[in-house]
Amino acid sequence: MGTQSSDISAALNEALAALESADTPEGVRSLVSQVTGKKGSLGSLKSSLGSVVDVEERKKVGAAINEALSRLAEAADARLTVLSNAELLRVIGADRVDVTERALKSDVAARLGRTHLVTQATERLEDVFIGLGFQIAEGPEVESDFYNFEALNMPPSHPARSMWDTLFVDQDPQGSVLLRTHTSPVQIRVMQEWPPPIYAIMPGRVFRRDTPDATHMPVFHQIEGMVIDRNITFADLAGTIEAFTKAFFGSAFTSRLRPSYFPFTEPSAEFDIRRPDGSWIELGGCGMMHPRVIRAGGLDPDEWSGFAFGFGIDRMAKERHGVADLRDMYSNDVRFLEQFP
Ligand code: DAH
Repeated sequence: MGTQSSDISAALNEALAALESADTPEGVRSLVSQVTGKKGSLGSLKSSLGSVVDVEERKKVGAAINEALSRLAEAADARLTVLSNAELLRVIGADRVDVTERALKSDVAARLGRTHLVTQATERLEDVFIGLGFQIAEGPEVESDFYNFEALNMPPSHPARSMWDTLFVDQDPQGSVLLRTHTSPVQIRVMQEWPPPIYAIMPGRVFRRDTPDATHMPVFHQIEGMVIDRNITFADLAGTIEAFTKAFFGSAFTSRLRPSYFPFTEPSAEFDIRRPDGSWIELGGCGMMHPRVIRAGGLDPDEWSGFAFGFGIDRMAKERHGVADLRDMYSNDVRFLEQFP
């Protein structure tokens, strides 16, 4: 039986088709060695070459078989490349870290972080006062008696000191270092550092020897405001409080001042915010800066006058959001915190 070129191309086509369905490198290699082996379709054709008597015919058939073998080798190489690329992609896919996975998984609600209610309130207050032309200042939470009391017109044993239940730091001389009971000491520090005119707000944490209850915490937050300029009057104070009220709470809210007493202001007042339903929120204290306080800040009270105010941020946030108990704000219960996105 003579070797036909049609036998060669049939054997090649069959081998090429089988290659396409080989899906591992081992499969490709064993297919090639099987086809080209002694008993394989192309291998056996090659070994039968010796029986071709006609020399020219043998050359022709031999060349055709070699051509088929090299096409098979090329196809096998191409197939191996395809398979190893696929393997590479599989490994990359399996190793990939999907950073969007948590947010996309439908069975786990995306839990984004958020700022605390008091931080939110502080940031909004800062925005509103920056809009009114104020700058932000900060002072230390551990203060000296001088800044917390004395410079604010409360010399040692002044009776007004009892307005603030103070936590003292155990440091000699005893009583000289304390946790600030209000943000008012920052007024003095700002006057000492910033050249007037000064339009400053001073938010921060304050401390009092208080037992926690629905309306008190031993640690809470205040925001202090201070204006120092020439010819500042009580009307500027009232106008600023009113402008702040409308900007922060909304145009349906108004403010009022009631006479009061603070050692660092003269005259002094407390201010309340009127809700649209007619009820009142007591917010904080304010007044015209006492000449002694301006002098303690290193400025001449004959040249400069000013007003100041201060109020509790936690209590204000509590009122604004209808929180019943201040302690809930510090329980770290996410179910409470999640109500204020
Ligand atoms: N520091 C006062 C307090 O904690 C609040 C206060 C009252 C601040 C009057 C002021 C002010 O700046 O003028 O009770």
